[in-house]
Amino acid sequence: SEPSIGITVNGTEHQVSTDPDRPAVDVIRDELGLTGTKLVCGAGVCGACTLQLDGTPVASCLLPAAALAGKSVTTVEGLAHPVQRAIAAHDGLQCGYCTPGFVVEGAAFVDTWRAEHGDVAPSREEIAAALAGHLCRCGAYDGIYDAIAAACT
Ligand code: FES
Repeated sequence: SEPSIGITVNGTEHQVSTDPDRPAVDVIRDELGLTGTKLVCGAGVCGACTLQLDGTPVASCLLPAAALAGKSVTTVEGLAHPVQRAIAAHDGLQCGYCTPGFVVEGAAFVDTWRAEHGDVAPSREEIAAALAGHLCRCGAYDGIYDAIAAACT
């Protein structure tokens, strides 16, 4: 039988029997039913599958399930962060498929930024650089960047 991996997701511990080489995104979506994390490119380039591992955003499509063992995973379902309202308020989405990835990455960026800079908003270039690993096919970047700037102040 498949080995069992212990994972804590959004504060809840799970034991999942799975191939340790299976993509983490599949375990999160298919075994745990947390479908907020999206699988789009499957190649580590679009950011839709981003989750936080011990607070650090990582693409989960190229991450083996074994890498989740013993870690604290946060998915978009487990986030309650000002960046979420900010994205809605600034129309930072169109189809919404990339949104969870931007939210998961953006929340970590905002928290880190605020810890280092207080209420000073990052520049557009700084935000774009921080979110460079995320693609929005609808081109809603203006709203997304405005939302991140707003959430930082
Ligand atoms: Fe993982 Fe695109 S689905 S980076």
